[in-house]
Amino acid sequence: MKILVVGNGGREHALAWKLLQSQQVEQVYCTPGNGGTAIMSGCQNLPLKVDEFEKISQFSLQEGVDMVVVGPEIPLAKGITDYLQTQGLMVFGPTQAGAQIEASKAWSKSLMQAAGIPTAKAAVFTQAPEAKSYVQAQGAPIVVKADGLAAGKGVIVATTIEQAESAIESIFQGQFGSAGKFVVIEECLTGQEVSVLALTDGLTIRPLLPAQDHKRIGEGDTGDNTGGMGAYAPAPIATPEIMAKVQTEVLEPAIAILKSRGIDYRGVLYAGLMISPLGELKVLEFNCRFGDPETQVVLPLLATPLEELMLACIQQRLGEMPPITWKSGVAATVVAASGGYPSNYEKGKAISGIAQAEALGATVFQAGTQLLSQQIITNGGRVLNVTGIGDNFQQALDQAYAGIKSIEFEGMYYRRDIGYRVR
Ligand code: AMP
Ligand code: GLY
Repeated sequence: MKILVVGNGGREHALAWKLLQSQQVEQVYCTPGNGGTAIMSGCQNLPLKVDEFEKISQFSLQEGVDMVVVGPEIPLAKGITDYLQTQGLMVFGPTQAGAQIEASKAWSKSLMQAAGIPTAKAAVFTQAPEAKSYVQAQGAPIVVKADGLAAGKGVIVATTIEQAESAIESIFQGQFGSAGKFVVIEECLTGQEVSVLALTDGLTIRPLLPAQDHKRIGEGDTGDNTGGMGAYAPAPIATPEIMAKVQTEVLEPAIAILKSRGIDYRGVLYAGLMISPLGELKVLEFNCRFGDPETQVVLPLLATPLEELMLACIQQRLGEMPPITWKSGVAATVVAASGGYPSNYEKGKAISGIAQAEALGATVFQAGTQLLSQQIITNGGRVLNVTGIGDNFQQALDQAYAGIKSIEFEGMYYRRDIGYRVR
């Protein structure tokens, strides 16, 4: 098979890496890709942007690409799947209608309410004064969300009414552009977050191993929200009992209601869950794609060939597949970020030590990197995901940290407490 992966993050490097482990996969293209996909044997980067649908289609048809796998939410929300399907290509990832589950928090919330999926109580507003009165009536803490895609920055967990009001103001004043036409205000939930990435063909839905990520920039889960600073799987908090509830109370109802609305959803449905101290489960959000960095810890443990599962989703025969199988052991990943991320940071710093980290047994998934004249340089906020595997989390984390210690670039920052709950 020839497979084209759309995107340029750590998630896409991990997808390309996993797909290439199968005997059935002869060539992977990654567009635009990063430094890691540029140097991986069997993988070739293309200079096409994720929203250049026509060019991606032309290339795929010319080269006989068998399947296009879409990593990020933005091309999905812009309809890449719909377009490529009309050109006769096989695409892993939902259509534009399905991607609304991530691209509009108001739409997603109303879907959950209609399906009876447990989620935080919420209300949707189009004007600041009404939103502010609601906040005053509810009290703090309270969560204010821009409706649309805002690169993970559109959610403000406000600890005071003033903070919530100023978040409402800035969203309606256009801080997140058109993503802020609606504001969703939600009850603040407490507990531990778990990410369940599930594969679906629109009829059957099967979860992958549950993962936990660390969203905050600072140690002890403090400071600004990021795309994720580290992750581990399988998350022990998601016990078999909890996973059974996720299946029957969240995943199956979600697919059923999408189907009842005429949406044939094939790809990944990612449920971001909050598990309360009493074990009660609520959905914080749905995403229409693989998580990043969750993918970097889930895929290394997958034993079933990934392309077989993806094809079964596209061809609507996931229900006929044998159960998904997993390798024994656990995985953990630590993100090396550019100094200053998630605010301003510099790019173009030379990275050294990746080969040494890999010689110590770690797997390095590259994210914000670029290959320039034989040198890997930084090209983004989250730069590398150094992943370790072990019989237990202590071993996996030791391997990841031993690896990251041999890597250097100017301004490199990483959290030293990834996995503190499971060590
Ligand atoms: P979302 O994009 O909706 O998942 O929100 C991003 C992050 O904001 C989540 O991963 C949580 O850490 C936090 N968050 C979102 N909704 C809530 C909520 N209702 N209560 C507490 N924290 C929340
Ligand atoms: N790691 C969170 C996400 O992918 O949305």
